[in-house]
Amino acid sequence: MAHQSDLIAEDITAYLKAQEEKSMLRFITCGSVDDGKSTLIGRLLWDSKLVFEDHLAALEVDSKKVGTQGDDIDYALLLDGLQAEREQGITIDVAYRFFSTEKRKFIVADTPGHEQYTRNMVTGASTADLAVILIDARKGVLTQTRRHSYLVSLVGIRKVLVAINKMDLVDYSAGTFAGIEQDYRAFAAQLGFEEITCIPISALRGDNIINPSGQTDWYQGPTLMTCLETVQVDNAALGLPFRMPVQWVNRPDLDFRGFCGTIASGRVAPGDTVTVAGSGQQSRVARIVTMDGDLEEAVAGQAITLILEDEIDISRGDMLCDPLNRPAHADQLEARVVWMQDDALLPGRSYLLKTGATTVPVQITDLKYKVNVNTLEQMAGKTLALNEIGVCNLSLGKAVSFDPYQENRGTGNFILIDRMTNATVGAGMIDFALRRATNIHWQALDVDKGSRASMKNQKPAVLWFTGLSGAGKSTIANLVEKKLHSLGKHTYLLDGDNVRHGLNRDLGFTDADRVENIRRVAEAARLFVDAGMVVLVSFISPFRSERSMAREMLEEEEFYEVYVNTPLEVCEARDPKGLYKKARAGQLQNFTGIDSAYEAPENPEITVNTAESQPDELAEEIVRTILGDDFVYEIPDGTER
Ligand code: ADX
Repeated sequence: MAHQSDLIAEDITAYLKAQEEKSMLRFITCGSVDDGKSTLIGRLLWDSKLVFEDHLAALEVDSKKVGTQGDDIDYALLLDGLQAEREQGITIDVAYRFFSTEKRKFIVADTPGHEQYTRNMVTGASTADLAVILIDARKGVLTQTRRHSYLVSLVGIRKVLVAINKMDLVDYSAGTFAGIEQDYRAFAAQLGFEEITCIPISALRGDNIINPSGQTDWYQGPTLMTCLETVQVDNAALGLPFRMPVQWVNRPDLDFRGFCGTIASGRVAPGDTVTVAGSGQQSRVARIVTMDGDLEEAVAGQAITLILEDEIDISRGDMLCDPLNRPAHADQLEARVVWMQDDALLPGRSYLLKTGATTVPVQITDLKYKVNVNTLEQMAGKTLALNEIGVCNLSLGKAVSFDPYQENRGTGNFILIDRMTNATVGAGMIDFALRRATNIHWQALDVDKGSRASMKNQKPAVLWFTGLSGAGKSTIANLVEKKLHSLGKHTYLLDGDNVRHGLNRDLGFTDADRVENIRRVAEAARLFVDAGMVVLVSFISPFRSERSMAREMLEEEEFYEVYVNTPLEVCEARDPKGLYKKARAGQLQNFTGIDSAYEAPENPEITVNTAESQPDELAEEIVRTILGDDFVYEIPDGTER
């Protein structure tokens, strides 16, 4: 193989031109350090001669120092990666590396093999065309091989190269290789790969990496490099129907209206008819504008501005598409979700879903099952923990346009975002739209909230009492209701203990159950508000996330968060139901304040301090606040007193 740096030195322009014309293969390597993964990548970089001289010198010194390979160079050390990797001998994050040969350019995502790093692997694999799965010839197909293969198939990789490594340690045995190949193919049959190539290698000795090995005469197939250089990378996105999520609408003056975005799949040219996926409105492409002038055609991956012939209604988040092949447009869907953060996914909690250029609120309405990534078995579960994968039904706040992930990786994926921290907490692949909701429509009723409220001569509202068990929520809420009632207000009190006897009697005190508890009571409160009532809700409601969900269900000024702020010590000293005592004795699990979290409100409308005042004074204060500081009583006949 020609030394690339010679060409760089001799004719840099020719070198760059050659680089530009080469095709690109993105691949991922899966396996653990023990399988020889780092050694393999190191070997590929080394043999493609793209290692800089000074780096080589350092490598020789390092190899001697660490000395895992005697006097041989330790190729694994070529992967500098993270400091921790060297120190602990494990790979702990995704590292992308670039190298090239005369035939092709490569980007390799090197991801960790350890179970807890599923999220890194999914991240690394999501853009890859091919996966190299390493198997230690001495060990054969292991649990982790199955896990890696499943994750690879999950993110839509269809080509797999199984590198059966350390053949030198099994005397280059044809029988061992054949046995492993058979095992692997039998297992992988259920994963739907398009192409599986098994190659006997020794990353350490260089067998069948670049050149055919003299040790494996029985093997007639390609070497690893030949395979990487020749595997067909049909840019799948190009062959798919046209899709372009609109990132923003550029309207500098009245004469120019351009829709900017990156083409997710397919191609587009002036004269083509395009449709807005959601509304079905159509127009024709007048121009494709870029920084470098107008284009005759644009394809997947290009960032462009489209100018259409007609004025149609298009805004950020809409998807422009091929009129003959439109994506799904729905607000209910089934998807596979990979959970990526320490706090578990809680069905019922409101997250944000971002797909293409749209971000919408989303709830996981049903966790249908979890997938055991080691055995591919389906397991029941109420939540998804870090690195777990689940098949879920999702309900979105607004319909979005998408394709099933298996048909279009570019328009079938999404991420989930925590509404409080803005962190990415999950990644998802859409299976299909659920049609369920399409035959249920919101029924417009003639008697509405306004007419019901005005008949009661009151402004409907929710007073949401939150605080620890024993804080005094129910006592104060009860007094407030009495006062409002005596003022002629139409009220209703939803109390945690009571609602848990009926509507919510199926729920316990796990985080997941509490989320559902609050979701239901928030929905109930909303119905009462719609009925024109003043609703008092008295629930611990320990999580900010669900309290803000309740707030968002209502209109502004309809929601008053009342923080009954009583310190844990005081609640525990009072212990009206003896529950703190039980919790401390370990007889009651998940008790708020003891072994389950309470997230205090950050900006409550009202805070009452039970340590400083009597319940009656506090109730008076609350009534005063919600009815206005001048304390004008509105009585049913409308006169004031
Ligand atoms: S919430 O957290 O889901 O909002 P909710 O207000 O419905 O709780 O119910 C709290 C009441 O249930 C407490 O006042 C207490 O009487 C009772 N309870 C029983 N077990 C627990 C527990 N593990 N944690 C908190 N409250 C509990």
